[in-house]
Amino acid sequence: MSSLFQIIPEQASTLAPQVDQLYWFIIGVTAFFGILVSIVVVYFAVKYRTNDPLAVGAPITGSIPLELAWSIIPFLISVVIFAWASQVFFNLYRPPDQTLEIYATGKRWMWKFQHLDGKAEINELHVPVGRPVKVTFTSEDVLHSLYFPSFRTKADAIPGRYSSLWFDATKVGSYHIFCAEYCGTRHSGMIGTVHVMEPADYQAWLSGGGGGGTLAQRGERLFSDLACNTCHVGDGSGRGPSLHNKFGTQEQLANGSVVNIDESYVRESILRPQMKVVAGFQPLMPTFQGLVNEESVMALVEYVKSLQSSRGGTEAAANTAAPAAAAPAQEHR
Ligand code: CUA
Repeated sequence: MSSLFQIIPEQASTLAPQVDQLYWFIIGVTAFFGILVSIVVVYFAVKYRTNDPLAVGAPITGSIPLELAWSIIPFLISVVIFAWASQVFFNLYRPPDQTLEIYATGKRWMWKFQHLDGKAEINELHVPVGRPVKVTFTSEDVLHSLYFPSFRTKADAIPGRYSSLWFDATKVGSYHIFCAEYCGTRHSGMIGTVHVMEPADYQAWLSGGGGGGTLAQRGERLFSDLACNTCHVGDGSGRGPSLHNKFGTQEQLANGSVVNIDESYVRESILRPQMKVVAGFQPLMPTFQGLVNEESVMALVEYVKSLQSSRGGTEAAANTAAPAAAAPAQEHR
């Protein structure tokens, strides 16, 4: 963004230097051997050139030291690349604790971002600098891929499933968002801008007219509008299991297996409730496939997440965003 000619995008996250160092190492190794082989090919072509059409080359019977060398050296280099790349991979795929959570939906041809406090934006994303952000997302139609080149992070948006990625932006500024999976006519137009802001500016932006309550509050309204609350009674006396203090724990299923109650399981239970019925309950719940869109599902998931007694029930919905937002202001003092 800063210069006219750039080989690689600007580094704007904590992950970017890690990815680039590995990338340059691999380029360096391949360039070294590519150039070495080219030079040797030319050198030998000149050295062993002959004008005698009937000349016969010297018989070659093999060389154990040579064969060991060209096996062991590349092996060691690949082990270095593997170990190094695994380290970077784990850093890319394991978000730290206490991330700022954002939901997103990809659809032809836009990215819709949903903040927990209720604010939503299309093809634009505002985040604070110096704070890990985790984006959980899915697609409403076909495969897309959410790509932040300057943060060096990318993941496919897959219909019917939640993906997530995380980044910790290091520089205030505006950076590209791309769709990195061909998704139809206007794939190339499925782009956006991520605005990295000072924590104070981010706070000011967040407080500027959200409307409609937090995401969890919207989920709570849906929960009663869709009559979920008639079966999922808080004290566990309903026809469906209580959802209080369930998120993040494990549940025993009717088929004997155990499932982690995460975003994907809650989403699946709303859309395909017969798939994983909780032990001790009948498969009575109707499917909500086609009745609620992905954004409403996200609101419901966020509501279930907010039902933790440690957070004080539904009021916690507002708090999930608040401490997260208050923290960076202190960190930067
Ligand atoms: Cu969405 Cu390409």
